[in-house]
Amino acid sequence: MLELSPAELLAPETKEIWVAADTLEEPTPADIIRLRRIAPDLPTDLVSAVITQVQLRRKARSSLGDVANRMLFTAAGLQQSTPPATASRRARRLVDLGMTSVLDVGCGIGVDAMASQRAGLTVTAIEKDPVTAAFATVNLEQQVRNDDAVVGTLPLCDATFFDPARRSQNRRLMSPDDWSPSWSWITKYGEGRPRTVAKAAPGIPHDRIPARCAAEWVSLDHRLIETCIWFEGLAAGLPRRSAVLLHQQSDPWKVGEESVLGTDDESQPAPLGPVADWILEPDPAIIRSHLIDTLAERIGAVGLSSDIAYLTSNHPPDPSWAQRLKVLDEVPAGGKALRLELRRREIGKVEIHTRGLGIDPTRLRRSLKLSGSGPLHHLLLTRVAGTPTGFLVQPDSPKSKIGS
Ligand SMILES: C[S@@+](CC[C@H](N)C(=O)[O-])C[C@H]1O[C@@H](n2cnc3c(N)ncnc32)[C@H](O)[C@@H]1O
Repeated sequence: MLELSPAELLAPETKEIWVAADTLEEPTPADIIRLRRIAPDLPTDLVSAVITQVQLRRKARSSLGDVANRMLFTAAGLQQSTPPATASRRARRLVDLGMTSVLDVGCGIGVDAMASQRAGLTVTAIEKDPVTAAFATVNLEQQVRNDDAVVGTLPLCDATFFDPARRSQNRRLMSPDDWSPSWSWITKYGEGRPRTVAKAAPGIPHDRIPARCAAEWVSLDHRLIETCIWFEGLAAGLPRRSAVLLHQQSDPWKVGEESVLGTDDESQPAPLGPVADWILEPDPAIIRSHLIDTLAERIGAVGLSSDIAYLTSNHPPDPSWAQRLKVLDEVPAGGKALRLELRRREIGKVEIHTRGLGIDPTRLRRSLKLSGSGPLHHLLLTRVAGTPTGFLVQPDSPKSKIGS
């Protein structure tokens, strides 16, 4: 990413390049040379930076909608930005709690801050990276402070929001202590100013969630997005742990209906039982929030084996909660017996659903060497009462595949 100022990128002389670059899907080197000829007086790095911006805007339109057309992006900022529906939901709750202003610490290119503005909050935004801060200033149409939040004193607003950087040089930072600001710094801040809310990785260990906080694992169209941690001053009315299942609306900034499952208690392990008519693959937010047992109780399902994230029931639940897989037949759980059985059935293509057996679906699919030309079949391999077992199953809504 070339580091040019918004004033240079958006100067009137670059307009033709913006327009011409937008007609190209993937600019080839020849296209770039042609674009440079359109404005021969512009520096080469400026033309390249505009082309990059056009490409980033195009990519961003799929998640942010048309508002992307007036924004500036860094590739890292776009990659780390929050889906607008999730950001809008958080902002709406702040407003519902009576907050009128929010301090957005580490605002990135500003998606959460834009959602806060749209919800009617007055935003103060701080960003450590100077290029990102300059671009966010354009995106938010207000000055973003270019500062390191952990040095000096932070301004006071009704509420504070953190979305720490969880990547560095394209590498995912797995330990919360490596995030920026670090998770321990954020939790210490939140203890002193409990009207704090933080976005954390969905895989944050449960024991890193401070006492008296409410944690929400949020999925969007069954894709796990984040853990939203509301500190004590903003946690009123929320269970200590919940799974929030959202669905993308045609306007990406709109929050549609949500399904919420939550509890304050440690859940009791769901009873185990034999395989019924349906096997259920719960939404990943339910799995990560450790609420499978709560779901089992709510929908009257049982587990297949302890510690395996599948449930089974004769009565399929609302499809929001889980992908519903109709059990068709039992097959061997692996090895030569499975291969022979699938060949005998002339099955050529399988999608593999598996848990608890340490199976890598891609390697297994390769080793099955299937060559039949029939339709796609779904193979589920797991443990039932501890024993490896295989099933042919049929999802009732193939389009709403639930990932894990
Ligand atoms: C995950 S991104 C924020 C994304 C943003 N919520 C959005 O939706 O667009 C985190 C940002 O925090 C910034 N950051 C990291 N450490 C910081 C610090 N100590 N002070 C201020 N900003 C910081 C990073 O530069 C990065 O842009």
